[in-house]
Amino acid sequence: MSLSLLLFFIQFLSPSLQQFPRPCTSPDVLQSKRCCPVWPGDGSVCGSLSGRGFCQDVTVADLPNGPQYPHSGLDNREQWPLVFYNQSCQCAGNYMGFNCGECKFGYFGANCGERRESVRKNIFQLSVSERQRFISYLNLAKTTISPDYMIVTGVYSQMNNGSTPMFANISVYDLFIWMHYYVSRDALLGGPGNVWADIDFAHESAAFLPWHRVYLLFWEHEIRKLTGDFNFTIPYWDWRDAQDCQVCTDELMGARSPLNPNLISPSSVFSSWKVNMKTLEIPFTLMFFAFKIAFQEMLFYNLKSKVQLNTRFVLQTHKTKLKSQYHHIFVVALGQDNSL
Ligand SMILES: *[C@@H]1O[C@H](CO)[C@@H](O)[C@H](O)[C@H]1NC(C)=O
Ligand SMILES: *[C@@H]1O[C@H](CO)[C@@H](O)[C@H](O)[C@H]1NC(C)=O
Ligand SMILES: *[C@@H]1O[C@H](CO)[C@@H](O)[C@H](O)[C@H]1NC(C)=O
Ligand SMILES: *[C@@H]1O[C@H](CO)[C@@H](O)[C@H](O)[C@H]1NC(C)=O
Repeated sequence: MSLSLLLFFIQFLSPSLQQFPRPCTSPDVLQSKRCCPVWPGDGSVCGSLSGRGFCQDVTVADLPNGPQYPHSGLDNREQWPLVFYNQSCQCAGNYMGFNCGECKFGYFGANCGERRESVRKNIFQLSVSERQRFISYLNLAKTTISPDYMIVTGVYSQMNNGSTPMFANISVYDLFIWMHYYVSRDALLGGPGNVWADIDFAHESAAFLPWHRVYLLFWEHEIRKLTGDFNFTIPYWDWRDAQDCQVCTDELMGARSPLNPNLISPSSVFSSWKVNMKTLEIPFTLMFFAFKIAFQEMLFYNLKSKVQLNTRFVLQTHKTKLKSQYHHIFVVALGQDNSL
């Protein structure tokens, strides 16, 4: 992966601008390209009156793209986020967030001054109540509209220079499915079906582990905000020597349905999960489609492709397409590493 691609995905994950802060989806903001929301704590832009941050021009690397992407000025993710915004909050100290209203990962307290370690547990060592809490948090995230973020439902050229925004509400959980899709989907070159598939900013390269670590930290963070449980940590599943899908039980991620082996058991809460995002950005890719049944597929592919659930394999394989459904497994597995 070229440096510019690497920078690209780092920018994508910059905590100040995830896709897309709700206050930055209005025509005003899109037309001015200034995504510097007010921090409600003191009523100032980026919490500047409290020294939390200030509004600043976004600078992106102007290094050339790698050979994987011989295009320029076509896909909205190029030079992220300049197509949409050229100013955003730059947070000071331990502050984070699109309005500097939150604490950086690992920091807590009203002024974000308290450093606290988070310890992630083996999923098989959770107590019954911890396990039930984990599942109920996931389910709450799946069913609660994110108060802070929206997702884009079209490409910028469809928005008349920002005067007709195209954004949709999304649940806290589905936001992460969407971001994952958005970073790894094919590049859109304009026109139906005109895509460049040989690119993926989250997989197939050295980006894989760091991208997903930040992704998990962000996910954990949003679950904490949602539930108010700031001690929550994602458990991990160490699947290196697993002979089968040990987490595929109704107590955990859902067993296989006895009625239809492609579905999750009706006794699992996950059997009622649906992804219905038909209005999203065109064109649909197979990758995105796969998320519709990601949980069910997790069961299915996991059993078939055990070899692919091996850390060494992931690290050594650059060009092997990792199927989207493995990511539910990574969400649990990569939680082992909390040093970031
Ligand atoms: C940011 O975008 C706005 C709106 O297009 C434009 O007027 C302004 O010049 C841009 N600022 C920079 C630093 O490019
Ligand atoms: C958007 O703005 C550009 C530059 O100001 C202009 O050339 C273009 O016609 C505008 N497009 C639309 C759809 O308004
Ligand atoms: C998103 O949900 C909020 C309430 O939760 C609603 O007021 C708003 O109209 C919705 N926006 C869209 C684009 O659906
Ligand atoms: C969270 O952890 C902190 C520090 O370990 C502890 O003082 C606090 O009681 C815990 N809060 C809850 C709700 O468990």
